[in-house]
Amino acid sequence: MADLIAELAGALGEANVLVSEQDQAPFLTDWLGKYRGAARAVIRPGSADDVAAAMRICARHGAPVVPQGGNTSMSGGATPDSSGTAIVLSLARLNRIRDIDTVSNTITVDAGVVLAKVQQAAQAAGHFFPLSLGAEGSCTIGGNLAANAGGVAVLRYGTMRELTLGLEVVLADGRIWDGLTALRKDNTGYALRDLFIGSEGTLGIITGAVLKLFARPHARASAFVAVENTAAALSLLAAVRDRCGDRLTAFEFMTGECLSLILRHIGDARLPLSAMPQAAVLIELSDQDDEPALRERLEAALAESIESGLVPDAAIAQDGTQAKAFWRIREGVSEALVREGKAAKHDVSMPVSAMADFVAAADIAVRTVAPGVRPIVFGHLGDGNLHYNLLPAEGQAPEAFAALAPELTRIVHDEIGRRRGSISAEHGIGQLRVSEMPLRKAPLELELMHQLKHLLDPAGLLNPGKLLPAATRN
Ligand code: FAD
Ligand code: MLT
Ligand code: ZN
Repeated sequence: MADLIAELAGALGEANVLVSEQDQAPFLTDWLGKYRGAARAVIRPGSADDVAAAMRICARHGAPVVPQGGNTSMSGGATPDSSGTAIVLSLARLNRIRDIDTVSNTITVDAGVVLAKVQQAAQAAGHFFPLSLGAEGSCTIGGNLAANAGGVAVLRYGTMRELTLGLEVVLADGRIWDGLTALRKDNTGYALRDLFIGSEGTLGIITGAVLKLFARPHARASAFVAVENTAAALSLLAAVRDRCGDRLTAFEFMTGECLSLILRHIGDARLPLSAMPQAAVLIELSDQDDEPALRERLEAALAESIESGLVPDAAIAQDGTQAKAFWRIREGVSEALVREGKAAKHDVSMPVSAMADFVAAADIAVRTVAPGVRPIVFGHLGDGNLHYNLLPAEGQAPEAFAALAPELTRIVHDEIGRRRGSISAEHGIGQLRVSEMPLRKAPLELELMHQLKHLLDPAGLLNPGKLLPAATRN
């Protein structure tokens, strides 16, 4: 052990090898406070070459490595296990914006750059980087890539995989794959880039990326709209899409229970409607025209739905401040859930057409097993992605609910299975869902994944216990 630490300190500098409990503490628990791990050391390399040197040293000593970006994972992906054998490799010091090419519409960044910084740099260059999520002030580009993050603008711009052109990756043996190309077309073999995206730190450590930039929207129009339920929200989605086309950038759904929870726990959140609705949708349009014209287009699209009775109430933001207040509600949900207590969280996706039926069936099924259980449902409805969270019945002891949670999760995921959906739409499998992989993935898929893992990381040093269950390794 001493040799390992000494060698790492020799390669990275002592200040970048954290061994004290106090220094390591922020790196050893996850954002939800669900997982607490232990590490031999937390290391903070400052470049891709540093990462490569560290990986060669760890490979020589057979030390497992847990890559960590902003540590905002919702599935415990960046938290080491409790064995204390792992090295946590933080990418936080790889924080340079390497290049902005306003002709090719690309930005090249280190993997440790915080998402909000990339958004700001693109804006400063008169362009736009669309990935947007509640954790954007602390999550990193490397974490967004490793988890193939989604967020609130997927409807228009796609997931992180669709926003990425090139990658730089350090392999488990310390070799560096330089795939940092800015090519939108390149048919020269297997798409290695896409293999590393979504691999949750189990196939390689991403140290750099070339990302797509877009024209900066000059106009935004936002509305907070009441609807009866999921089915009504889907009808509204079709109506708005029909009238507004690709200008539709976000369509975020929240049930009434979810809204009540947010208003209870998020002090500066205010309901912009005259009464608490059954459910609500936050709609955003964006384009290159002028804002009044875009707002008129949104008003016209909603007017038809108000007339038809589909929409009982709606508020349209008259300026950026009001739009921000709408988003404060939506972005407050994760925090509100944590303040309310331990929720059984589910990040699921299915065909958009199956969502209303899923919510109805899941609500009945979970209430049969756990009377009084409180579904808190919200999410990226236009992408077929819902966060179906369950809170204990009012007054129920947390331990009693915790004992029920595995059964409730099985029920929710069985409903997803019936609709050929996914048990992880955007948060990743991490350690939260790894035990379910043999139940939810076909044996052939798991076998192919294990063979790829074995090819790229034969010693199994990269993020062990995440994504792939150990037992079925070939
Ligand atoms: P970490 O949490 O540090 O790591 C995530 C995973 O990636 C881990 O498995 C880790 O080992 C691996 N990893 C990290 N960096 C690297 C690297 N450079 N190379 C290889 N592997 C690496 N996610 C969404 O998709 N959509 C949302 O709307 C969304 N909203 C959120 C809201 C809140 C309030 C919070 C707390 C989280 C939210 N998330 C959301 C989840 C999370 O923010 C994302 O998964 C994000 O992409 C993680 O980035 P990170 O830098 O924090 O990664
Ligand atoms: C969101 O959409 O807010 C996130 O994915 C986070 C969550 O599920 O809590
Ligand atoms: Zn989400």
